[in-house]
Parts: sequence; C-alpha cells; structure tokens
Amino acid sequence: MENKKRILTGIRPTGALHLGHYVGALHNWISLQEEYDCNFLIADYQALGDHFNDIELIKKSVIDVTLDWLSVGLDPEKSNFVIQSYVPEHAELSMLLSFVTPLGMLERNPTLKGELDSLPVERRSAGFFNYPISQVADILLPRAHLVPVGEDQAPHLEMSREIARKFNNMYGYVFPEPETLIGKVGRLSGTDGKGKMSKSQGNVILLSDTKESVDKKVRSMYTDPNRIRADIPGKIEGNPVFQYLDAFTENDKNVDDFKERYKTGNIGDVEIKNYLSNILNDFLDPIRDKRAYFEKNINLVEEALDTGVTNARKLANETMQLVRDKMKISSYKKVW
Ligand code: TRP
Repeated sequence: MENKKRILTGIRPTGALHLGHYVGALHNWISLQEEYDCNFLIADYQALGDHFNDIELIKKSVIDVTLDWLSVGLDPEKSNFVIQSYVPEHAELSMLLSFVTPLGMLERNPTLKGELDSLPVERRSAGFFNYPISQVADILLPRAHLVPVGEDQAPHLEMSREIARKFNNMYGYVFPEPETLIGKVGRLSGTDGKGKMSKSQGNVILLSDTKESVDKKVRSMYTDPNRIRADIPGKIEGNPVFQYLDAFTENDKNVDDFKERYKTGNIGDVEIKNYLSNILNDFLDPIRDKRAYFEKNINLVEEALDTGVTNARKLANETMQLVRDKMKISSYKKVW
C-alpha cells in the first residue's frame, strides 16, 4: 500500500454521469484502482465556476456522481472518494499556490481560454479564471504522481508540473511532478451525432437511465443523414450507432455483419438499433442492480464519502505541514 504510486483525478458534479464518462474515464479508473492508490475527487468548488447560481444542482449531483461511481464498480475500500469542499486544506493550498503562479500562465492556458470565451461576460468570475490553480491544488494536495485525464485537461497538468517545480525550487521539495496518464480510452459523440455530450442538450444516455429510456434514446439516435432508405448504402464513420456498438462490443460477428450490410444498403436502421439497445441494456443491467442496492443502503454511500474524506484530509494535513514548514509560514513566533 505504502509503495503504490498515488493517483488523483476528478469530475465536476454538474449532473448524473453518462456513457461518455464511462468510455472516456470510468472504465479506465476501474482498472487503475487495482494498481494504484487512487483518489477520486468530486470537484464541487470547481463546479461553482459555471454553476454558482445553481447550488441545488451541485448538491444533487454530488450524490448522483457517488452513486454512479459505486454502481460501475469504483470501490471505496480500494480508493478514496473525496468531496473537494470537505477538505479545507484545499482552499489554503490554492491560495498559497496562486502567489507562485504567474498571471501569464493562466492567460495562456488554452482550455481556460476556450471555456471563458464560451461563458457570457457577466458570468466570467475571478474564481473561474482561477480554477486551473484550484485544479493544481487538487493534484498537488495528495502529492499525486499520476493523473489520468483526457486531452483537454493537458494544459492544467502542464501547469501542475510547472508550479510544483517552481515551488520545490523556491522553498524546498514537497511535490512530485505529476505525470499525465493517457489511458486507452475512447470517445463517444452525443446520440445526435454532435461531438459535445451534455445532459442539457438531451443527447446523452445516462448510466442511471431505465431500459425504456435507453430504448427510446437509441430509437431516435442519429445515423447517416444521407441514408433515407434502407436500400441506400450508408456510412459507418462518424455514425453514432456504430460508434456505440464498437465501444460496447468486442469482436462481435453481428456488428461486422451489420457494417457490411449497412455499407451496401442491405439493412434497416431498426434492426441495428434494436441490437444496440440490447447491448447497452445488458451492459447497464448490473450497474442498475448495484445502484438499486446502494440507493436502498444510502448509509454505505455516506460511509464511502466519510472514509474518503478522512483519508484525504490526513494526507492533506501532512502536505500542508510540509508546505507551511518549507515556506516558513505560520511560524513567526520564533521572530519575536
Ligand atoms: N476539470 C476536470 C473536468 O472538468 C475535473 C477535475 C477537477 C479534475 N479537478 C481535477 C481532473 C483534478 C483531474 C484532476 O473534467
């Protein structure tokens, strides 16, 4: 246990999780917990960035996300589930790190830039501008070695390394430079074929969706818009139905057969969609069972969070002790 490398990764609680989260992150996290000391963070402070006016959603989503995690097989006995705001040391470290962060580092961060541009001016807060520093604190607080994230998060990881290096050079060694762990993860588009998946656009299949809801969503899924009849040859590339089939099957002869028949105009959408519905519902069934179990035993959900937060705070306290010592902050008594 002691010698395992530490991982930290996180999610913003702004809604229940969907198949895109599973394919792009959770699937990878589940296997990482066998090999590493994992910290899975529910970044509720970060969610305030664009949801400061919707705390109710954040509150609900903290529980939804925890249930989603438990249901897919993240295991609180192996990994820490951590609520960011329950670890006050995070706020202290963020504040201290903000002083060693040059403004230009934030101004140049392409992920931040893109997100700020898409926010209406009146919603661009100083807190939002600062959130990459808060994310650096997420990562440095448990002195994480590895951070599994998607490519859009790479600039924040680059910042984490630069800030860790700068802190270590200026004050003395505290932080390992965290490496980005780009796993074997996939990407799903929305059921409407759009790249961006979002619950508010109604183009996602939730891990908590019922069978009926999955059937309905798959039935209305976007396919090849040029194929207006079953006897017209269709395109596989960029076709969400096949993308989902590829993500949730392996060496499936039926899928190969569908593709051949689709390309030559020998199959109707309905047959493929029915197949996909079944695949997805088979995948979701054990997840639904686990969710029902945890919903009935909500004390287990609370326990998972309590234990995770307790463990995280222990580590955070160690780190903050080191930080204050190295910075010689909070120890002025010796001066007078
Ligand atoms: N910014 C990440 C996202 O939107 C979530 C996140 C918060 C995170 N803190 C983190 C990811 C720390 C990795 C490490 O997906």
